[in-house]
This record gives sequence, C-alpha cells and structure tokens, in this order.
Amino acid sequence: MTSPYVLVLYYSRHGATAGLARHQARGVEEVPGMEARIRTVPAVSATCEATEPPIPEEGAVYCTESDLRDCAGLLLGSPTRFGNMAAPMKYFIDGTSSLWLSGGLSGKPAGVFSSSASLHGGQETTLLSMMLPLLHHGMLLTGLPYTESGLLTTDAGGTPYGATHVSGTDNARSLTETECALARAQGRRVAEIARRLLQGAAP
Ligand SMILES: Cc1cc2nc3c(=O)[nH]c(=O)nc-3n(C[C@H](O)[C@H](O)[C@H](O)COP(=O)(O)O)c2cc1C
Repeated sequence: MTSPYVLVLYYSRHGATAGLARHQARGVEEVPGMEARIRTVPAVSATCEATEPPIPEEGAVYCTESDLRDCAGLLLGSPTRFGNMAAPMKYFIDGTSSLWLSGGLSGKPAGVFSSSASLHGGQETTLLSMMLPLLHHGMLLTGLPYTESGLLTTDAGGTPYGATHVSGTDNARSLTETECALARAQGRRVAEIARRLLQGAAP
C-alpha cells in the first residue's frame, strides 16, 4: 500500500515554477506520514499531430489520471502567461472531466503557486485562474495565511492566494529566501490539512 501523498503538479518552461514546486514538496515531506509526488504535464503544440515522448527529457514525469485521483491533496503550479495559467496546464485540467463527474477530488485540500517575470505581471490573477477548476472539482482551497510572516516582509514573490516567484524579464532571478520559505510553508499546510482530514480530525 502506498503512503498518502500530496500531488505537486506543475508546468514549467524555463525552470522557475519547477523550483517553487521543489520547495512545496519539501514542505509536504516535513509532515510526518505524508509524501510528496511531483509530476508535470506535457507541452501543447499548435501542430495537432505533434506528440511528446512518453517520458520527458528532464524534470518530473508526466502526471497520470491515477496520480491525480489518488492524491490526498494537490498543489498546482504554473507560470503566469498573460495573467493566466499556461495552456499545457489548462489542457491537462480540461481532460479531467471523468474525475469531476465521479467527485474524486471533492473535499481534498489544494493550493496553487506561480512564477512571473514581473512583480505586478498578474501573479494573483493566475493563481485565481487555477483555483476556478479546482473549485468545480469541489476541492478545499487553503491559501497561504498571514501568520507566515514572510508575506508581510517580502519584496519579491509571495501572496495570500499562494506562493509565487518573480523571475525577472530574463528569468535570471533565483528564488529568494522568503519565496522558498513561503513555498515550503504552503506545502506543509496542504499536507497537514490532508493528514488531519484522512484521520477524520478537523482541519
Ligand atoms: C507567452 C508568455 C506569456 C507571459 N505572460 C506574462 C505575464 O502576463 N506577466 C509576467 O509577469 N510574466 C509573463 N511571462 C513570463 C513568465 O511568467 C516567467 O518567465 C515565468 O517565471 C516562467 O516560469 P517557468 O520558468 O516556470 O517557465 C510570460 C511568458 C510567456 C512565454
């Protein structure tokens, strides 16, 4: 039998969102008994016949339906694209209608995270765009509370809607210490709530 896990599902073209995902996973694994399962989604192409190899050349492996169905909680990450989630993540989510019909994700905790080039380039709207399908799935969005002091002091990423990173226009900025701490805190929070729900305790 596999241990309960939080699925850290992200798309990343240049690695910034992948960096946040790794810190989310660390936070998940700080919760006793909980594991992090990191997965990604394939790119989409304007050429409809184009296919990706079944295993990506680098990074996490592609998410399967059962990875998503069997998770105890979900952390969903995408780069900001025109103030919205990236198409590959939206495409993946659009393929989850049978899970929606069965209510398989209903009542499970979830959080969202993102990376954008600029500080005011639409991180919050991207996070909100990722919350919408999760609400349709009946997931419990946990946010990131101001009890995390980094939210008050950050001069880079970090929002109450979810962890973020500001990567700069050339994508050259590394994650700041605060951005890492907030991503970890979010991972821990979703994993802790998932654990309590599994045990039948109030979150
Ligand atoms: C098509 C496209 C649209 C983008 N739109 C935005 C945007 O609206 N605001 C912003 O700040 N950055 C925008 N960016 C920049 C990315 O959000 C940023 O480089 C991000 O850190 C990339 O994450 P990744 O390294 O995980 O791929 C855009 C990038 C692309 C390719």
